[in-house]
Amino acid sequence: MARESESGFPIEPVYGPEAGAGAEDAGEKLGAPGAYPFTRGVYPTMYTGRPWTMRQYAGFGTAVESNARYRDLIAHGTTGLSVAFDLPTQMGHDSDAPLAHGEVGKVGVAIDSIDDMRLLFDRIPLGEVSTSMTINAPAALLLLLYQLVAEEQGVPADRLTGTIQNDVLKEYIARGTYIFPPEPSLRLTADIFRYCKAEIPRWNTISISGYHMAEAGASPAQEIAFTLADGIAYVRTALAAGMDVDDFAPRLSFFFVSRTTILEEVAKFRAARRIWARVMREEFGARNPKSWMLRFHTQTAGVQLTAQQPEVNLVRVAVQGLAAVLGGTQSLHTNSFDEAIALPTDKSARLALRTQQVLAYETDVTATVDPFAGSYAVESLTDEVEAAALALMERIEDLGGAVSAIEHGFQKAEIERTAYRVAQETESGERVVVGVNRFQLAAEEPYEPLRVDPAIEAQQAARLAKLRAERDQSAADAALAALRKAAEGTDNVLYPMKSALAARATLGEVCNALREVWGAYEPREVF
Ligand code: 3HC
Repeated sequence: MARESESGFPIEPVYGPEAGAGAEDAGEKLGAPGAYPFTRGVYPTMYTGRPWTMRQYAGFGTAVESNARYRDLIAHGTTGLSVAFDLPTQMGHDSDAPLAHGEVGKVGVAIDSIDDMRLLFDRIPLGEVSTSMTINAPAALLLLLYQLVAEEQGVPADRLTGTIQNDVLKEYIARGTYIFPPEPSLRLTADIFRYCKAEIPRWNTISISGYHMAEAGASPAQEIAFTLADGIAYVRTALAAGMDVDDFAPRLSFFFVSRTTILEEVAKFRAARRIWARVMREEFGARNPKSWMLRFHTQTAGVQLTAQQPEVNLVRVAVQGLAAVLGGTQSLHTNSFDEAIALPTDKSARLALRTQQVLAYETDVTATVDPFAGSYAVESLTDEVEAAALALMERIEDLGGAVSAIEHGFQKAEIERTAYRVAQETESGERVVVGVNRFQLAAEEPYEPLRVDPAIEAQQAARLAKLRAERDQSAADAALAALRKAAEGTDNVLYPMKSALAARATLGEVCNALREVWGAYEPREVF
C-alpha cells in the first residue's frame, strides 16, 4: 500500500526504471549543477566550493540585547546574520504607540529609529557580514536605516550584502504583517528594486517566502506554487514599472521550509528551481543566467516542533536541516529545540547552530553535489511535486495572477483545506507525532524557558521621548512632509524616506506619513 505524500500523490514503495525518471533522461530535465534549469543546484560546485550560510534568525528585547546575541552567534561560528523584529516594528508602529502595548521586544527586537539601529549593529562590521532582515511592509525603512548606519561606519552602500524579506503578498495570504493595500505595497517593492539597482547593487531585494504559508498548513506543492506565483507577480510589477528583467531578477531570492519528510522536501527544492528557471527564461525572456537561478534560504519547520519532550526536537531539526542541505539550500536556519515553549536560550541557540556545523563538517553531504540526482525515487518525486505545483500555478493564472487570486481568497482556502486534513490525521493518530499522539511520557519533565523582561516597553518609550526632545524637530517635520508629497506622486519614495530617517524621524512617524497618503489594508473576508 503506497504511502501518500504531503502533496497528495502516492509514494511508491519501490521506484525502478519503469517508474519513468532515472539517470538516462538526465539531460534536459536535470542539467548540470550550476546550469539551466538548475535542478541539481544553482552553483557548479555547490557545497564543495562553499558551504551554505549558517544564518540563525535571532532578535528580542532592545537593540542592546539582540546585539549581544548576534555577537555571541558570530563568536560561535554563524556565517550570516538574520534579524527578527518585534511586531510593532513589523507593523510600522513606535514602541510607545497604544497598539504596541505588550508586544515590544517580544517576538523580535524593537527598532524605532536610527538610534536603535546603531545599537543593533554596534561592534559588527557591516562591510564584512551579510544580514537578512525579516521585515515586510516597512522593509524600505529598515534597509535605509541599515545603509545609514553603514555610512556612519564608513562602509559604502555598494559593499553591503544581505536581504530584506519585503514580500507583502504572502503577508496577505498567511502571516498578516501588512500595512498598506496591495497597489502601494507593490509600488514600494518596485521602488526598492530600482533603489537597490542604483545604490545597493549587491543587496537581495526580496525573499519571496513560502515558509509562512507552509507553517500555516500549505503542502510542499502548494508552498512552491504559491511562492513562485507571488514571484511572478513581483516580476510583472517591476516590468510594469519600466525595469528590464535582468536589471532586478538576479537579486530576487526565496525562502522555504524544510520538513521532516526528507525525500519529498528534496524533490520540492529541485522542482522549484526547475520551474523558476523555465518561467524566467521562457516566459520573461531573461538572458542573464543569474536571472534564472532560484537562490533560497531555508528554515526548519517550526510547526513540527513539539512542547512535549522538547529534546526530541533536536532530532527533528537535524533531519529537517539535512533535507535542506540535500535539497541545495544557499542559507539555513535551524530551529532551537525549545522554541515550541519560548524564546531560545543561549544554549539552545548554540545547539541549533552546532547541528548545522555537524551537517557541514562531520557528514559527507558537502562532498558531492545533489547526491540524489538520478535516483529513481527522488527524480520521480521531483516530477510529481513539479506537476502538482504547475497545476496550482495554472489555476492562479486563470484567476488573473497571484494578487487577484489573493483577493478571491484562493491560496488561503487551499492552505486551510490542507491544514484541516493534517489536523484530522494527527487527531486520529494516522499521522504520528512522537511524544504527542504516540510514545508519550506519563508526566512531562519541567523546563525553564527564557523570558523577555516586561520593563523593555518602558525603556523603549523613554528612549523615544529622549529622541524626540533632542532632534531638530523642524528638520524632521520638513522631511516627513517631503515624504508625504513623494508618496502622493510617482517619484521613488526611498530617497525622501532616507532623509526623514536620517533626521531621526521614527519608524512609526514614517509609516504614519505613508498611511495618511496610501491608507491601510483591510482584508475582505472571503467565505
Ligand atoms: N560557487 C561559487 N560562488 C558561490 C558558491 C559556490 N559554490 N556558493 C556561494 N557562492 C557565492 C555567491 O554567488 C554569493 O556571491 P554574490 O553575493 O557575489 O553573488 C556569495 O557566495 C554568497 O552566497 P549566497 O548568495 O548563495 O548566500 P547568502 O547567504 O549570501 O544568500 C540568499 C542566500 C538566499 C540568496 C539570501 O537571500 C539570504 O541570505 N536569504 C536569507 C533570508 C532569511 O534569513 N530569512 C529569515 C526569515 S525568518 C522569518 O521569516 C520569520 C520566521 O517567522 C520564520
